[in-house]
Amino acid sequence: ETVDWDPEQAGKGEYDHFMLKEIHEQPTSLAQAIEGRIDPEAGRISLEGFDPGTFEGVDSVQLVACGTSYHAALYGSLALNSAGVQATALLANEYSVAAPPVDDDTLVIAVSQSGETADTLSALRRAKRHGADTLTVTNVVGSTAAREADDALFIRAGPEIGVAATKTFSSQAVMLVLLAQRIADDTRGEVPADLESLLPDLARMPEGIDDLLETSEADAVARHYLDSEAFFFIGRGLGFPVALEGALKFKEITYEHAEGFASGELKHGPLALVTPETPVFAIFTGEEDEKTLKNAEEAQTRGAPVIAVCPADHRAVEVADDHLEIPDVDSDLAGLFANVQLQLVSYYAADLLGRPIDKPRNLAKSVTVE
Ligand code: G6P
Repeated sequence: ETVDWDPEQAGKGEYDHFMLKEIHEQPTSLAQAIEGRIDPEAGRISLEGFDPGTFEGVDSVQLVACGTSYHAALYGSLALNSAGVQATALLANEYSVAAPPVDDDTLVIAVSQSGETADTLSALRRAKRHGADTLTVTNVVGSTAAREADDALFIRAGPEIGVAATKTFSSQAVMLVLLAQRIADDTRGEVPADLESLLPDLARMPEGIDDLLETSEADAVARHYLDSEAFFFIGRGLGFPVALEGALKFKEITYEHAEGFASGELKHGPLALVTPETPVFAIFTGEEDEKTLKNAEEAQTRGAPVIAVCPADHRAVEVADDHLEIPDVDSDLAGLFANVQLQLVSYYAADLLGRPIDKPRNLAKSVTVE
């Protein structure tokens, strides 16, 4: 008797696709990311190689990245800003023509899952030439970015096979939130106030994501709205990069039209696209949620169904047509739970449409040309 042995299928275990497997690996990958790096009881963050004082003298931070990593970079820049540190996220492929001034008090952080993206490496090299301190946040030890940057912080997510990045996004974002606290601590000489709620919520995050994965109704939502003309995602503050990422994931693997907007920006143009055939996923992170709810209602008035991604007891649940639940956690993390729900919506929509989820047309896991 012979057994058919398909190594690729074996790698997927019980899952039909690597993407679904990697979405479900997030409790583990996040636990690995934070292991030994946070001490909630002592209110302490310890990043190996980055002792307190490492970032003294840094007066501004530039984050450079592409694709999903750019959304993590944007997330990180907002976490830095709210911790009181001057920071900007830039698309690495724009950096050579659009870089803000750099000097030796600038820290440039290259965010890259692979550490091999040509655009990102080119931005990193430019920053070095201009005298900036450089750091990479990457998944791959021994990657070009890890070798060339002055320092490296590894996200420890394990190999990611699906072309559409999932688990590496959440780990990048979490590492950047931690890094933001360390940089703020070093440059302002004080521990940012929200560490007391952040660290316990972060320690519970792997378990929280596990619960979310168990109870998610993303498959039903995906099925319900499958025939729509376009899919919009809105969020404010840290919910904005999550809206961008939700839309990117959706377009990458479903080939459907999807766009992410800052909630407040909907009324400044995109609202013209809103019809009963354009569901709007509204992400609530606890940052001026009442305004985001108003923006979602503006879309609803034009007939668009609204899917609220928010905690169970949130006011948006009553207003919205559908609900994807996230736990009530620190604003620095809420969007990352929302992102997992949106990853699942994209996955199930693509699966129902019969798309080749792990290898979307025209896309590559790592793009090594500029
Ligand atoms: C490619 C992939 C994206 C990824 C981007 C950046 O375009 O298809 O999923 O986000 O590269 O990759 P990096 O390895 O630098 O994070």
